[in-house]
Amino acid sequence: MSQPNTGLGIDIGGSGIKGAPVDLDSGEFLRERLKIATPEHSDPQTLAHVVARIVSHFPEAAGTPVGITFPGVVREGRVDTAANLHESWVGTDATTLFSRALGRPVRVLNDADAAAVAETRYGAAQGVRGSVLLTTLGTGIGSALVVDGRLVPNTEFGHLEIDGYDAETRASSGARKRDDLSYRVWAVERLQRYYRVVEDLVWPDLIVVGGGVSRKADKFLPHLDIRTPIVPAKLLNTAGAVGAALAAVQDAPEH
Ligand code: BGC
Repeated sequence: MSQPNTGLGIDIGGSGIKGAPVDLDSGEFLRERLKIATPEHSDPQTLAHVVARIVSHFPEAAGTPVGITFPGVVREGRVDTAANLHESWVGTDATTLFSRALGRPVRVLNDADAAAVAETRYGAAQGVRGSVLLTTLGTGIGSALVVDGRLVPNTEFGHLEIDGYDAETRASSGARKRDDLSYRVWAVERLQRYYRVVEDLVWPDLIVVGGGVSRKADKFLPHLDIRTPIVPAKLLNTAGAVGAALAAVQDAPEH
């Protein structure tokens, strides 16, 4: 059974929905991605329309399965939490919703988990033994735990309660912007505390930092004083879409 080497990945985030066809040999986008701002009213039907618009923008990928990330807990294609999207997502069968909207098979998985799938195959976690914790710093904080190359799905370390706060409301990239903090102050006052708690609970061998802000890693990672090696994601913010595309193709029955 041969695997086709292309897939289509869509990354649903709190601020934007992005998609592109993916070369699964290299883990790179085959074309410039299309990004559409996440509508204010982010209920399932509205987002399914946006995803369909993005998919139809890439007719060359018509035959490929579609991988879709979701910013919440997703088990067996069903959404269990949606901290930064409309609450009507909770309980939605996302696999059925999107496969009906697109007329083709889909795989839906948590956004940080998808990023970890990509970083494990192509990026900063490639070939790493032991446990790797990937955190995505965006609107919220996503987490993914990979043990000897295998994903433990749906960890939610962005919602640890630290100093009486839901951690992502203080330490996410969204919180940095909301509170108008410099990268240094954000690192020293928010990320430092967050990663120290996380490393004391998980004791990972490596922490990988993803999300759009990983592009600016040199502005905040050097300010962190933690025991665990911590590196930026290699795929930066393409990791979610790339990992989703890979997961979808691996899932497809006839490959
Ligand atoms: C959600 C996670 C998600 C993260 C990043 C959190 O609020 O609970 O499931 O991975 O945001 O989008």
